[in-house]
Amino acid sequence: MASLVLTSTSFCPSFRTPGDAKPTKGIRKSNIACKITSDQTDQQSSSTSSPRKYDRRDVLLGLGGLYGMAGLSTVNGPLASAAPIQAPDLSKCHLPDDVPPTVHVECCPPVAPKIIDYTPPAHIPSKLRVRLPAHTLDKEYIDKYNIAMERMRALPDDDPRSFTQQAMVHCAYCNGAYDQIGFPDINIQVHNCWLFLPFHRWQLYFYERILGSLINDPTFALPFWNWDHPEGMRMPDIFADPTSSLYDENRNPNHQPPVVVDLDYTKGADDPTIDDKQQIIHNLSIMYRQVVTPKTAELFFGLPYRAGDQPNPGMGALERMPHNNLHIWGGNPNNPNNEDLGHFYSSGRDPLFYSLHANVDRIWNIWKTLPGDKRTDFSDSDWLETSFVFYDEKKQLVRVKVKDAVDTRLLGYTYEKRPLPWLNCKPESRKAKVTTTASNILVPSARAVEKKVTTPLTAFPLMLDNPISTVVPRPKKRRSKKEKDDAEEVLIIKGVEFEETLSVSFAVYVNDEDQTETIRPDNSEFAGSFTSVPSGKKDSHEKTKTDVLFAITELLEDLDAEDDDTVVVTLVPRNEVGKVKIDGIKIELRS
Ligand code: C2O
Repeated sequence: MASLVLTSTSFCPSFRTPGDAKPTKGIRKSNIACKITSDQTDQQSSSTSSPRKYDRRDVLLGLGGLYGMAGLSTVNGPLASAAPIQAPDLSKCHLPDDVPPTVHVECCPPVAPKIIDYTPPAHIPSKLRVRLPAHTLDKEYIDKYNIAMERMRALPDDDPRSFTQQAMVHCAYCNGAYDQIGFPDINIQVHNCWLFLPFHRWQLYFYERILGSLINDPTFALPFWNWDHPEGMRMPDIFADPTSSLYDENRNPNHQPPVVVDLDYTKGADDPTIDDKQQIIHNLSIMYRQVVTPKTAELFFGLPYRAGDQPNPGMGALERMPHNNLHIWGGNPNNPNNEDLGHFYSSGRDPLFYSLHANVDRIWNIWKTLPGDKRTDFSDSDWLETSFVFYDEKKQLVRVKVKDAVDTRLLGYTYEKRPLPWLNCKPESRKAKVTTTASNILVPSARAVEKKVTTPLTAFPLMLDNPISTVVPRPKKRRSKKEKDDAEEVLIIKGVEFEETLSVSFAVYVNDEDQTETIRPDNSEFAGSFTSVPSGKKDSHEKTKTDVLFAITELLEDLDAEDDDTVVVTLVPRNEVGKVKIDGIKIELRS
């Protein structure tokens, strides 16, 4: 494994070194997928023994899932109902509603006598803090970061700057310690909605400033875990040294460096048949699918969540995958709740959490530089005016708004430019591969599959206890380039319901034509997966319900399905099989 040189050039042949600079249209349009070198073949990665994979022949085919779906309104526009979520009232903070009862955890911060409103600087500061990849830090930087963490850990628990309190910030906003202002029966939940990216940006901002102040170094910048680059696709060494203040023992012992991270990880799904190189190709393909493919704010950030709304309307692409998978991959499965990273209440106790999120934050910046008119922040005032409160490095309580976080330079920091090898790692259709690499495998045509569907109907809603396939009609076929630019074709898995305490997972395939081999993330047929990070009560069986969205315009082009009236959607349960209820499946055009 050590001999594997993790350079991006070995994966994507047309890879250049543009750094994070604006990629050209040519790069985005590039149809070059991750290639593996001639000493390895595609077939090697297809395994029949993987625990999370089902025999394709077990797939049930059925029709349905098309009823009762009023179109969700599109809100990525200036129209707004003037109902932004407001910063919580700390004096009303209570024990978190959504933590396992076996765990006693308090996450309320101290109450402050006054709140300061954050005012952004008038200009971008001339000197920015530069966040660097965690695997490239020099000794001086690592020492500095270690000392800052040591001091943060040494602060008394009731000091709002202490590491304990930093972890509680996440618990409070994510596990139901705050009620919405004006809606005392509804919790604030910053995940699974359009607040995911800005909330964590603000949390990291204060965390970084506090660390800097503890070492009297205002230039201190939080390193990011560069998990989107082959060289960064493992737990960074600085976090894995047991003598370091950056260490956390509550991590998966089997995922210590140099184990390559699986950006599509599902609990317990370690697959020894996938070698490092294949894993890296899968990861780069996932990055392409989750960052290049979603071209609108709604698809990238998540669905609107306004005052009075129930939590968890729906995640954006980056939160769903790989963010959630990284949490599950990092937590220790031997702990009762996969702590620390594997449960929201405990995530902030792992210093790795902040670097994991720094990369999420960095990719928000990168996404906006990719080609496409709609790759912008929301202009909806309910998003822009949403507020949170955090303690700063002077122990002052500060109220911040989402609108002041959209430009990181105004927050005083930026990211070191790094190569983005995944820009060239567009998944490829299996159809082409199978027919060219294994002529003895019979590939039925789409029509053949549709014929099969005339077998008994699968009625929605259903419990996902087996892989299921269903034919879903498209609103319009053969759309022009302009129509495609105007509206994305979106596959919506409606009303996905499960107990909040579980980490459920299922994969979604499109036009998976009864293949004999497993669909992988570098296949266009792999639309993505859904993996939840638990946040709920262990004994209450409280359920959460959400929609899961997949952008499929480009995917259908790659599958040569432009002329088809319908697509075949397959859902494959991977964890907590039989514990997810699905209300239906629909395809909509959304602008
Ligand atoms: Cu607030 Cu990565 O979770």
